[in-house]
Amino acid sequence: MTTDRAGSVRAADGSVREQENLLNTTGRAAVRRVGDPIVELKGVQVYHRARTGGIFKPNIVKAVDGVDLQVRRGETIGLVGESGCGKSTLASVIVGLQKPTGGDVLFKGKSALKRNAALRKDFGSDVSIIFQDPATALNPRMTVQDILKDPLDVHGIGNKSGRDRRVRDLLGLVGLPVSAADALPSQISGGQRQRVAIARALALEPKIIVADEPTSALDVSVRAQVLNLLSDLKEELYLGMVFISHDIQTVRYVSDRICVMNKGKIVEEGTAAQVFDTPSQDYTRTLLGAAPTLLHV
Ligand SMILES: Nc1ncnc2c1ncn2[C@@H]1O[C@H](COP(=O)(O)OP(=O)(O)O)[C@@H](O)[C@H]1O
Ligand SMILES: [Mg+2]
Repeated sequence: MTTDRAGSVRAADGSVREQENLLNTTGRAAVRRVGDPIVELKGVQVYHRARTGGIFKPNIVKAVDGVDLQVRRGETIGLVGESGCGKSTLASVIVGLQKPTGGDVLFKGKSALKRNAALRKDFGSDVSIIFQDPATALNPRMTVQDILKDPLDVHGIGNKSGRDRRVRDLLGLVGLPVSAADALPSQISGGQRQRVAIARALALEPKIIVADEPTSALDVSVRAQVLNLLSDLKEELYLGMVFISHDIQTVRYVSDRICVMNKGKIVEEGTAAQVFDTPSQDYTRTLLGAAPTLLHV
């Protein structure tokens, strides 16, 4: 993968597709280049049987209800909606942690729901997730370097010195000092822990990262730093990102495209400018109105 100074990006496999000139939020002409879909959801449904229902007439919770979505390299999708609308469920389907009860999930054009060990392994290394709370997402008994080596071990990547080098590279990539390698998660700050979680998500050189409310559990003072880091990494590594938040303002400046979710469905979709300037749904207007006017990250 190469990135030249003019900002044009080309993947090693040459899977770059030039797209139309778009006006970005600052009005500057920007050339967007995005790849073919890595993950594609087709009519995805995740239904749960709720505890409140009876045996003969169970209540069904439609956590995700018929979602079509394409996730490509080089594009950040901001997925927003109020708490309980199905964002985390959708995130776990996109990364293959949860099987939908209906619809299909395609990985590079092939169904990821069929039994295919090689495809599942490929899926696991190409698509990774960052969770909301790094305090619970990281094993408290493992040092930072062991946390970062774990995915390399599981996928049998590199020898010992290669893995040590990769750990140092990953720490550098997320702006952590090499000395952080020997720390336990409890010995570093919340912002640093989220950087470790981001480094772990990058360990296998993924093409897509799903970040589920990655700044919500952090102190306000470090939220912008983590947001900027993700945004920089997306450019530098030509990643596709799904950036999830209940706060539409948080996703505005990092998203190329915004999908608004309500009760398990995507009810509105467009560029950040379209969704902010001319929202088509009352629900979106409510999200916009309910959000603070100052950039709140
Ligand atoms: N395992 C489950 N069993 C029953 N209901 C669930 C389960 N997981 C999620 N839900 C329900 O699905 C809906 C969507 O949840 P979630 O995806 O966590 O929303 P969000 O991340 O947008 O807050 C909620 O109503 C939640 O209570
Ligand atoms: Mg959630």
